[in-house]
Amino acid sequence: MNYYLLGYPVGHSVSPAMHNAAFKELGLPHIYSLLETEPEKLGETVQRLRENKFGGANVTTPHKIEIIKHMDTLAPSAKRIGAVNTIENRGGQLIGHNTDVIGGIKALTLKYGELTESRVVLLGAGGAARALAQELAPKVSELVILNRSPDKADKLARILPGNTVGAGLGEQQVVKTADIVINATSVGMTPNTSESPIDAQYLRQGQLVYDIVYNPIKTKLMQDAEKAGAETLGGLWMLVYQGVESFKIWTDQEPTAETMYNAALRVLEDWH
Ligand code: ATR
Repeated sequence: MNYYLLGYPVGHSVSPAMHNAAFKELGLPHIYSLLETEPEKLGETVQRLRENKFGGANVTTPHKIEIIKHMDTLAPSAKRIGAVNTIENRGGQLIGHNTDVIGGIKALTLKYGELTESRVVLLGAGGAARALAQELAPKVSELVILNRSPDKADKLARILPGNTVGAGLGEQQVVKTADIVINATSVGMTPNTSESPIDAQYLRQGQLVYDIVYNPIKTKLMQDAEKAGAETLGGLWMLVYQGVESFKIWTDQEPTAETMYNAALRVLEDWH
């Protein structure tokens, strides 16, 4: 069977390496490849895939919302988030799923444990932060959303359940008392690798710092966190676990996350 990544552009992606390594390990005769798809050709590409009986696909920027109208049905995950990153082909019926956030939360709980008693500071109020906040708000004991533009954080917090508040990055002293700090902004991403959204003085031992940025593998925020004695979790694990969840939907088999992580890591190292 053939599996694809639909995006534009898709030149730089770790997904083929990750999925092909997992197919190989499980002895599955499948191939995952990039399918660069211009926005105006999205409908026609999906039609072509249907005719060729593909196994499934991932969907990335800029198609995650637009792809919805080409699906036959949506799984609850995609309905809740309003975006699709995984297409399941169930006997010709195309089902849109979203594994981005489930993967991100799974990576977090595997590292941290149960979230029920945790106080979480989430940095950012963009697309990625919003999706994570939606999942976290009902699960954690306290969620503080900090964003460069405070209004966006406040607006987001108001529509979420639980003990959730929003404020500006100027209020970052709250990080001191957090159990988990999550960076869902683009600060620190290549080429701005010397930047961190949080002043290092607020990081401490006993905390978990989770950066969803995966390029570089170890961001400035993670380096500062390590120096302060905090635990860290890098964004490549979020990417790997969204892949693990997609893989399970397609094959009903559980791949080894470490195999996918190592394959992705090799690709990232090759780029540098
Ligand atoms: P994504 O879909 O990856 O979440 P996005 O929706 O463009 O991308 O959101 C980017 C996030 O990073 C936002 O929270 C943004 O803050 P604003 O809402 O104030 O724009 C944050 N961000 C980007 N660059 C930043 C910077 N230099 N300092 C602080 N926050 C930044």
